[in-house]
Amino acid sequence: MEKKRMQLIPNIKPRIWHGSDYFPEQWLSDPDIFRQDIELMKKAHCNVMSIGMFAWSQLEREEGVFTFEWLDHVLDEFEKNGIYTFLATPSGARPAWLSQKYPEVLRVNANRVRNLHGARHNHCFTSPVYREKVAQINEKLAERYAKHPAVIAWHVSNEYGGECHCDHCQSAFREWLKNKYQTLDQLNHAWWTTFWSHTYTDWSQVESPAPHGESAVHGHNLDWRRFVSDQTIDFYKHEIKPLKAANSDIPVFTNFMNVLGYTDLNHAKFAEVVDFVSWDSYPTWHAQTDERELAASIAFHHDMYRSLKNGQPFLLMESTPSTTNWQGVSKLKRPGMHALSSLQAVAHGSDSVQYFQWRKSRGSSEKFHGAVVDHVGHENTRVFRDVEQLGDTLEKLSDVAGTTVDAKVAIIFDTENRWAINDAQGPRNIGVKYESTVLDHYQAFWDAGVSVDIIDMEKDISNYKLVIAPMLYMIKPGVGKQIEQFVEAGGTFVATYWSGIVDENDLVVQGGFPGSLRKTLGIWSEEIDGLYDDQTQTIKVTSEAGKHFSDTYTAHEICDLIHLETAEALASYGEDFYAGRPALTVNQLGSGRAYYIASRNQGPFHKDFYNQMISDLEIDKVIDTDLPIGVTAQARTDGKHDYVFIMNFTTDTQNLNIPNKAFIDIENNAPLSGDIELSPYEVRLLKRKVK
Ligand code: GLA
Ligand code: GLA
Repeated sequence: MEKKRMQLIPNIKPRIWHGSDYFPEQWLSDPDIFRQDIELMKKAHCNVMSIGMFAWSQLEREEGVFTFEWLDHVLDEFEKNGIYTFLATPSGARPAWLSQKYPEVLRVNANRVRNLHGARHNHCFTSPVYREKVAQINEKLAERYAKHPAVIAWHVSNEYGGECHCDHCQSAFREWLKNKYQTLDQLNHAWWTTFWSHTYTDWSQVESPAPHGESAVHGHNLDWRRFVSDQTIDFYKHEIKPLKAANSDIPVFTNFMNVLGYTDLNHAKFAEVVDFVSWDSYPTWHAQTDERELAASIAFHHDMYRSLKNGQPFLLMESTPSTTNWQGVSKLKRPGMHALSSLQAVAHGSDSVQYFQWRKSRGSSEKFHGAVVDHVGHENTRVFRDVEQLGDTLEKLSDVAGTTVDAKVAIIFDTENRWAINDAQGPRNIGVKYESTVLDHYQAFWDAGVSVDIIDMEKDISNYKLVIAPMLYMIKPGVGKQIEQFVEAGGTFVATYWSGIVDENDLVVQGGFPGSLRKTLGIWSEEIDGLYDDQTQTIKVTSEAGKHFSDTYTAHEICDLIHLETAEALASYGEDFYAGRPALTVNQLGSGRAYYIASRNQGPFHKDFYNQMISDLEIDKVIDTDLPIGVTAQARTDGKHDYVFIMNFTTDTQNLNIPNKAFIDIENNAPLSGDIELSPYEVRLLKRKVK
């Protein structure tokens, strides 16, 4: 079936965007640099630059005194040269005069100490003054540039993050809570404040969590996380008002980050107010010989960011063309890795490859961060050639723009569940490992070359064949029912230990775990055993489990002690006082099935378990072949054609068999089938007609 292409930028010929963050304001004293940059951008097949994200002090040198001539010149020259712009609002860093005159714009930390001027992202999202000043500069930019032909989208601020605990934020937090709970009694109940005599008797007693104050009330911490995320989104909404008012056709977006290092935002909510999603990816390539897990964790992010807006392509907004300067070690990308990691993003749904940064600056903290143009100032460098060559490849992929990924498998990775699970003092305070557990499940599909969506718990799941929810500790209202109906209607659901434990306020479910999933899973979880790092448990699999399973596996870290209700056991524990108790179960409900994995299992368990699912449920692999370890295949589709990316993330030459004759090699437009060889880090770009 033909699918509608989703074009992110209206009225402009679809393409894969290629470009960079660019800071022409750093070079205003040397106009030659800008002239050279334009020529180099064209040579590198760059078609869009993100500019202005830290240019506030060059746009408004004194309060109310605006200078736009330099930016006019940049945009006009871009237009003449066929280069487009993601024009940024400058709120990510503010001028010194602003902090000096209005100290309330500076952030207050959890310890209630206000920051001094400096760095960036050092502002309060609530401060009326900051909001006013940001609205004003955004209005000026919008008035002047919202209809400029070079401007194709607004890059709103930069990597929103962090929190502020000033008095303005305390009042806003209390308002947020009043709105949510209406009465203090309801707040006291939801936070279970009778514990340790923490009951509030007046709203004014409620304040944000603090290291030297309240930090032990889980519902309080969770609501603070929600408030901070909501307040950031509210600030973003404030920022885009003048932009949309000036020209509602220009899309607005902001750039998100790697969620393994960064947990402040609920992206599922943020996605509702951006026209498209973008993110900044900085993998630590070559830190380890085996890069399979790292490659899969980046793929996971791409899949998650694509899934945020239901399969709409996203943009890779930043990546380094060579090294960063902030990781422990600034390792150069080995030959081949630039194209591989860039095309990996496109394979998973990105309609761009963008860099930080175009040209290395001369001073300050990012002067040694990788860039397309090095301090030497010309194009005769390895990095520039890599970028130029990739630009040429991206031009051949313009048909891919706007296509999506057709996934029949979804993994639930939920931000609020994550906040709650990581705050709970529970079965294993030395590592409950929600994030890496989700990635372990994901890895099995990456290895097999099966497309996966990564979704939050409230997304509609009715179109998937298989939905996996590792450690769904918190279950929000309605979610248990949605999963039950999905299974009854024929879907397959997989859950694990430490699921169905608390409600949306982190209050523990009464009457037996896994709460609202109990009927679906057909089990009761009575106790959970935490294991020390050097302890293991054996899992013995029955012959009914399926041909992909081995007889035994090793479990570690967490073992759930469950009772069968309507489910049957496919495996049992082999040791300790719970030997013989079920370790893996399946429950038939309506026309579907629900599996429960009771323990955290090592090594090949997930691979075998999911290969069994893939074969039982007839889930399509991107290529119907066994991929060598470290090689994956991903595909995008418009319903008429599939665009297939085969990627070798190893330093070895790999061989695989392309089983049917339907493929065309995009780079040379020739048919391709049978045994093929992939060199180290090679990507093959193929196309096939949809059957
Ligand atoms: C101490 C405290 C108790 C309780 C336990 C938990 O003994 O007195 O209130 O917190 O620790 O182990
Ligand atoms: C982030 C920021 C950029 C730059 C890069 C460096 O992604 O958005 O401004 O600092 O990191 O890697």
